[in-house]
Amino acid sequence: MKTIKDLNLKDKTVLVRVDYNVPLKNGKIESNLRIRASLPTINFLLENKVKNIILISHLGRPEGKENSDFSLAPVAKELEKMLNQKIGFYPLPQKAEKIEIPNDTKIILLENLRFDPGEEKNSQDFIKNIIDSVNADIFIQDGFAVVHRAHASTDAVKNFLPVYAGLLLEKEIQNLSKVLENPEHPVVLIIGGSKVEDKQPLIDKFVDVADYILVGGKIAADGYQPTNEKIIVATDFDEDSEGHKLDIGPVSTSEFVKILENAKTIIWNGTLGKVEDPAFSTASSIIANAIGQKSDATTIICGGDTTGFVEDYTKTHPNLNYSLISTGGGASLEFLLGKKLPGLDF
Ligand code: 3PG
Repeated sequence: MKTIKDLNLKDKTVLVRVDYNVPLKNGKIESNLRIRASLPTINFLLENKVKNIILISHLGRPEGKENSDFSLAPVAKELEKMLNQKIGFYPLPQKAEKIEIPNDTKIILLENLRFDPGEEKNSQDFIKNIIDSVNADIFIQDGFAVVHRAHASTDAVKNFLPVYAGLLLEKEIQNLSKVLENPEHPVVLIIGGSKVEDKQPLIDKFVDVADYILVGGKIAADGYQPTNEKIIVATDFDEDSEGHKLDIGPVSTSEFVKILENAKTIIWNGTLGKVEDPAFSTASSIIANAIGQKSDATTIICGGDTTGFVEDYTKTHPNLNYSLISTGGGASLEFLLGKKLPGLDF
C-alpha cells in the first residue's frame, strides 16, 4: 500500500478522508480520540508544504439529509484548538460550485458527507463534484474506521484520483496485520461485551491462531460454553444486590492476568464488566493495567466500548502504553476477521 511518505506533496491540494464520527452529547464532543488520531497525517502534510488540505468525513447517520444535530461544526472548532490554526468550515458544494479558499487558510473541513444521499450510495457524481470544487490532486485515505463501507469517499473516489494511505491508516493496518500474519506467541485474545453473536466469529477465527482465548463480560455471565480447551471462560462474578452478574470476579481476573504475563501478542475486544458503573469496572481496570504495562508485546485494544474505556482509564494512568488503541469499531473487527474492505482496496 502506497502511503503519503512515498509522495512529493509540495503545492498539492490533498483531499483527505478522515473519520470524525465522534460521540456528541448536546453538541459537545465526548471523546476526541478520532480527531487526535488524525493529527499526525495533517501535520505531516503541513510539514511537506501541501497547498491545501481538504478534510472530508461523516458523522452519525443523518440518512442523506441535512440535520444540524449531525453537523461537523463542533469538530472544526476542536480541530482549530488542537492545531492552533484556522480551519475553514464549508457546506458541501452545490453542483459545479467552486470553493474559494482564502490565502490565509491552509486547511478546510467540509460539512458531513452523509448530508447528501450520494455518499452512502457510492455516487461517482457526488465525489467528483467535491474533487472538482477544490481542484484536488491526490486522495488520502486516513479514515480507518470507515474503510469497511463502500461509500463515495471510500470507494467511488478511487476512480478519479491517485490514492495514498495516511499515517493513521498505516498504523492501524501495520498493527492489526501483525496479529494476522505470523504473530509472536503466546497470542491471547480477550473477549468481553454482551452480544455473543457479535463475538463468536472472532473466537472462531482466532481459535487456531491464539494460544488462549479469555472470555468475560456478559457473555461469560450468561454461561458461554467453551468449545475448545484454549477457551477459558470466567467462573466467578461480582453481582449487584439483585444477583445480576455485572463483572468478572477476582479469581478469574487473577487467572487472566497470569496468562497475560507471558503473552507476546494481545488483542482485547469487549469490556469484562458493566464498566459504565465504576463498581463493576474493577476487572477491566486490572486488565487495562496489566496490558498497558507490557513493553514486550504487541497490544491491541479494539471495539468501541473497550477503546472508550481504555482511553478514559489512561487519562488517570498516563504511564500505560498500548501498541494500538484502534479507532475502528466495525472496521477493525472486519479486518481481524480477514474480510476484504472496500476502502483498503487500492
Ligand atoms: C464507526 O463509527 O464505526 C464508523 O465511523 C462507521 O460508521 P457507520 O457504522 O455509521 O458506517
